[in-house]
Amino acid sequence: MPPAQPTAATGPILRFPPPGRPRLDPPLGSPLPRSSGLLPARLALSPPHLGGGELAALRATLDSGWIAPAGPTPAAFEAALAEATGFLHVLATASGTAALHLGYRCLGLAAGDEVCTSTLTFVATIAPAVQMGARPRFLDVERESWTLDPGLLELERAGRRGKLPRAVVPVDLFGQCADLAAIVPLCERWGVPVLSDSAGVLGATQRGRHAGRGAGLAAFSFNGNKIVTTGGGGALASDDPALIAEARHLANQAKEPAAHYQHETTGFSYSMSSMLAAIGLAQLPTLEGRVAARRAVFAR
Ligand SMILES: Cc1ncc(COP(=O)(O)O)c(C=O)c1O
Repeated sequence: MPPAQPTAATGPILRFPPPGRPRLDPPLGSPLPRSSGLLPARLALSPPHLGGGELAALRATLDSGWIAPAGPTPAAFEAALAEATGFLHVLATASGTAALHLGYRCLGLAAGDEVCTSTLTFVATIAPAVQMGARPRFLDVERESWTLDPGLLELERAGRRGKLPRAVVPVDLFGQCADLAAIVPLCERWGVPVLSDSAGVLGATQRGRHAGRGAGLAAFSFNGNKIVTTGGGGALASDDPALIAEARHLANQAKEPAAHYQHETTGFSYSMSSMLAAIGLAQLPTLEGRVAARRAVFAR
């Protein structure tokens, strides 16, 4: 069949990569390159694992009739996450990026505000803030942990000049936690909220506390490349019930509690579906074993 031609009705056909440009990675489904020596030619950074209970959990959720992003399954997943992380309040979300976006909204981020984060991260840490008109300030990471260097925050100098950031967003990376024991007291002294991007480190601990604990808010991701995956999903966690109540309100289109549709502000459709929560509930019991396996690999 000849290749499809653009028509007035369809408009231009976009191709990726554009004709003439080489692909950077093989098309989906193509066989992995063969190893030529002792090491495999390609190692996946973090492929998803299935624990075995996911199908049964999905079937039970479908049978229950609760498919919407509400009801007992997301609530049970939130309770299990609170148990796993030690946070008192958790909201399950459609993605880690959604959790960060809700976090920025709860902190009242506005156009022109500055947000400090680390240079070594994924774009989703800061993308929602940039979309809200904030200015990102990227600070270098510590050599040992690859996470935000607290010594570079310079809040005292910024405070004296009346130019404090609206939020500090340390990023936990590859199981390494940002030094919240240094960052949080410093930020508290200057009244700057801390939103921890702990998207990739569920199960990681530092000084006996789960990643993100100590920050006012922490965001987690359950994307396909995460240690616990729901296929796609996330969570926002806090010890402050008011912050999570506000995030829950915004995640559910900011609907006011009325018989009709009433809104005092605009929100998002960011709640996690019951089916994804069911997969997460089936995955969570495997977390401890997976953390132990990664620690064993690191120790080799
Ligand atoms: C550091 C970091 N922040 C945020 C995100 C965004 O999470 P999600 O993909 O669930 O939106 C990711 C996910 O890959 C991440 O690694």
